Amino acid sequence: MSSGWASLPPEIRILILRVLIQDGCKLSRLATVSREWQTELEKYNFARIKGTPSRLVDFGSMIHRNRALVNYIWFCLEVDGYDCTTCAPGLHGRLPDEEYEAAIIIQDADGCPIPTAFQNLFSVLSTWGLNGDLVLDISIYSPSDSKHWFPYLTFMPDIASDMLGGGIEQTISNKDYNDPQHGWVAGFRHSAPPRTAIYKVFHGVMEEGPFATDELELQWWDQLPSIPAVTSLLLRQQNRRRWKPHSLAHMFARFPRLQEVHYEPWREWGLMQRGTDISFHYLFKYIPRFNRNLKRLVVFENFNQQYPPIMQRFQFGEDIAECDSLRSPAPAVSHMIALASLKLEHLAASFIVDASDFFKIEPSWEWSNLSSIVLTSNLLAPEHPIEIGDMLRAAAAAATKMSRLETMEIWNGRQGLAALFKYQVFHDRHEATITWRGTWQLTMEPSILQAWEAVIHQHDCCRLDSVQEQLDVAVIKSHGDAIHHLMLSSPVIRPISLQQIQREQKFLEGVPTLPSRRSLAGG
Ligand SMILES: *[C@@H]1O[C@H](CO)[C@@H](O)[C@H](O)[C@H]1NC(C)=O
Repeated sequence: MSSGWASLPPEIRILILRVLIQDGCKLSRLATVSREWQTELEKYNFARIKGTPSRLVDFGSMIHRNRALVNYIWFCLEVDGYDCTTCAPGLHGRLPDEEYEAAIIIQDADGCPIPTAFQNLFSVLSTWGLNGDLVLDISIYSPSDSKHWFPYLTFMPDIASDMLGGGIEQTISNKDYNDPQHGWVAGFRHSAPPRTAIYKVFHGVMEEGPFATDELELQWWDQLPSIPAVTSLLLRQQNRRRWKPHSLAHMFARFPRLQEVHYEPWREWGLMQRGTDISFHYLFKYIPRFNRNLKRLVVFENFNQQYPPIMQRFQFGEDIAECDSLRSPAPAVSHMIALASLKLEHLAASFIVDASDFFKIEPSWEWSNLSSIVLTSNLLAPEHPIEIGDMLRAAAAAATKMSRLETMEIWNGRQGLAALFKYQVFHDRHEATITWRGTWQLTMEPSILQAWEAVIHQHDCCRLDSVQEQLDVAVIKSHGDAIHHLMLSSPVIRPISLQQIQREQKFLEGVPTLPSRRSLAGG
C-alpha cells in the first residue's frame, strides 16, 4: 500500500486522514499501519497543538523532536469551573462587595495562577528556534460559561475557512434546549441573563490581582523572556474575558518577530468604554515601537446588540449611567491606528475606528507598503448622504498617499443595515472599480467619482468603473450577517469567530417577543 499511498496527491492524503480522524480512530492506532502513515500523522498531529497550563511541563520535551512540524499552538487557559451559587452573583439580592468580587473574579486556570501559566509558556517557547511561521492563539475561558446562561458558547481552535465545513453548525440544535433555571425553555430564551452573569464571562483578566497595581503587572510582563519564534498572535472573540490593552502592549513586546496580529476585543459597557479607549490609544501607540516587523493588523471590536438593553435593565448602583446601543469610536484611537498603519501591508479595523476620523490625516503621512485596508464607519447609514460624500472624498485623498493600494473597503453592519464602499485596482487590466453594495442605494456624486479618478491616475490605471448592488434588508439580522452578505474581500474577523457570532444570533433569535409594557397597560 505504501507506493499507492505515496502516489496520491497530498490533498487527497490529508482528506483521507481527516475522515479517519473524524471517524474517531485513535491516531496512535493509525500510526502503526505504516511508517508513511506515521510520518503523515505526525505532520497532522503536530501542526496544530493544544497547550494547557498543566501540559506545559511535558510540552518542551514532547515538541522538541517535532518542532519543525509545529506551526500553530492553541494555548487554552481554562479557568476554574463554577456552579449555580456563583453563575450570576447577586441574582437573589445584592451581595457585599467582597463576596461579589470573590464570585466574579477568575484566578486560576487549570489549577495554576494565570501569571504562572504565562511564565511557564514563555519559558518553554523562548527556547524555540526560528523555523518558519508560528501562530500563537490564546484563549481564556471557563468550561462552565456554556453550562449556565450562555449555552451557545463554543470554545474551539482557530480553524481555516476551508476546514470549517459544517463544523460548528452541526452542534446547533437548540430546539430541545431546556434549562428553565437559566432562562431557556424548549429552545427559547424566556428571560435574558442577569447583568452579573454577563459581567462574569466578560470579566477582566488579572483585573483584581495578583498584582497590586497595573504598573506592577506591566513590569511583570516586561521581565518575561522574549519569544522570537512567534510570528502571529490571535486573541479571538470567544475569549470574552477582557485583556487590558495596556497589558497586551507589553505582551506583544515579548514577540520581536511578530508579523501579524488578530485582536477581537468586546465592546465595553457604557462609561467603562472611556477608560478602555485610553488604554487602546496606548496599545496602538506602542505597537509600532515594540513590533517593528508587524505587517498585518486585524482588529475587530465585537458586540451583541442584545446586551446593552440588558446591561441597562439590570442596572443597580450608579456604576452604569448609560449603555448606548450604538458606539461612537474615540477619534483619538482612530488617529493612533492610522498612525500605526503607516508601516503596515494590511489593516482591518472594525468598530474600534470610524473611517471619517481615520482619514483626517496629516500632510506628511505616506503609506509606502499598504496594499489593503478595511475600516468601518457609522456614517454609512441612509440618513447621512452628505457626510458619506465628505468621507469618501477624504478617503480618496488618503488613497493618493498609498502607492501600493489594491483594495480599500469601508463598511458598516448591524441589524437591518449593511453597506460597503469598495475601491479595487486591477493592475493587469489597467482599471479600477468602485463598488457600492448596501441595503440602500447611494447616489455617487460626480465629486466623489472625480476624487477617485485622481487616485487611479496615481495608480497607473486609466479606467474607473462603478457598480451598485442592492442587498435585501431582511437578511441582515446582525453585523455577522452583514459581513457575510457584503462579501468583503479582505478578512476582518477569523472565520471561526464569524461562525460563532452567527451561531449566537441564531440561538437568540429564538427569543419569543414579550409583550411590551404599553400593550400590557393598554390591554
Ligand atoms: C516597506 O517594506 C520594506 C520591505 O519589507 C521595508 O524595508 C520598509 O521598511 C517598509 N516600509 C515601511 C514604512 O515600513
